[in-house]
Amino acid sequence: MRKRGTFGSSLGTIMVVGGSVIGLGNIWRFPYVAGENGGAAFILIYLAINFLISVPLMFSEFSIGRAAKSNAMRSFRRLSPVKSWQGVGYLGIATSFVILSFYSVIAGWALEFLRESIAGTFMQLDPAGIKAHFDDFVASGWGPIGWVIAFVALNGIVVSFGIEKGIERFNKTAMPMMLVILVIMCINSFFLSGFREGATFLLRPDFSKVTPAMIMQALGQSFFSLSVGMGAMITYGSYIKKDDNMFRIGGTVAISDVTVAILSGLAIFPAVFSYGISPTSGPELVFLTLPNIFAQMPGGQIFAILFFLLLFAAAITSSVSLMEVAVAYVSEEFRLRRRIATLIITLCVMGTATLCALSQMPGSSLTVAGQNLFDLFDNVSSTYMMPLGGLLIVIFAGWVMRRDLFLRELTSNGRFGHRLSRPVYFMIRYAIPIAIAMLFLSKLGWLQF
Ligand code: PFF
Repeated sequence: MRKRGTFGSSLGTIMVVGGSVIGLGNIWRFPYVAGENGGAAFILIYLAINFLISVPLMFSEFSIGRAAKSNAMRSFRRLSPVKSWQGVGYLGIATSFVILSFYSVIAGWALEFLRESIAGTFMQLDPAGIKAHFDDFVASGWGPIGWVIAFVALNGIVVSFGIEKGIERFNKTAMPMMLVILVIMCINSFFLSGFREGATFLLRPDFSKVTPAMIMQALGQSFFSLSVGMGAMITYGSYIKKDDNMFRIGGTVAISDVTVAILSGLAIFPAVFSYGISPTSGPELVFLTLPNIFAQMPGGQIFAILFFLLLFAAAITSSVSLMEVAVAYVSEEFRLRRRIATLIITLCVMGTATLCALSQMPGSSLTVAGQNLFDLFDNVSSTYMMPLGGLLIVIFAGWVMRRDLFLRELTSNGRFGHRLSRPVYFMIRYAIPIAIAMLFLSKLGWLQF
């Protein structure tokens, strides 16, 4: 068996896990999903789900991965004699493919907008012009596809260098850069005319908007944003050193994740209200709102470049973790060199992501049940695949994995979080599976609240 990598340092581990967690989910997806679901009430529910369900789920994934020291599929096989549990690993690998396919399309948009910011293209356009420009680009076919392929290839390059020399080294450079850019962007948004209205939309709750369907959306968004429910944190968990503190890693990244999502909302909604764009305008929201600010502000071009660089960096530090799920599986199960495994996965993702990009062209026949492939992948992964994966993972951690082994991993052999471990274990065994199962059944229409 080839030697497995580990993350080099504690700080490096936080950067890598933080890199996976903070991504397009915070900057691109959170604002439009919150916008479509009524803003602040959604955010409160989202926050509760993050800390009560998703963070304990993250601990479960870390513990499974670190105990088994293996890829997402084999981890289940190592920890249970019942073979069918490895199906949860396969579900995770499939989910990572589905997410990576539409994620790369958005990352490709970010690259195109980065190029256009450098060229100054949208600097002279009004809101209607910006919308028309965006629609033309998406409909053009070859433009989005070229960027998708470039983005997936970049991912492949980072992943092929391995855990410490590739993924960790890359994250350690990209994460501090992202932080600086985000702070600059938020300070700037504070001075916009629509800041008050935008901030109110985001921060004043209206509980009449709360429905089971909305809670399910919040659950999906929370899993997506914290990269849980599909084996990425099992895979990364398998690279965490035995004496590293999981509570610290999980707590730090969860707080950073929420902070970045809210800051992104505060950067985007003031612009929505300042330029008369609908807060529910879907996946294009970020790409339609922010260019308007950039076009009108002094020094806007520099901010545009910085922002799209941020979006690209956020995307790639997350997508490498998605790719790693499949690469670890292929290289370990088929005993292939990392470079070969990465090449195979890169080519496969280039294919599926290209289909997603093509499905957005007007008149495309790549639709299922009236949804194009891109929207379908976005919805199916966070509404069905991740909640189902998350449910099965907590059941595995709470009921199938040996209790002493789980608690030993969770506390790093009794070193950290001894007192927290028992309530967390209780939640993992009882409260969380019941909560996810009820939401899931209500989504399927089998349970009415
Ligand atoms: N958490 C990432 C984001 O917020 O953009 C998306 C993601 C990455 C989801 C890795 C799942 C995953 F395994």
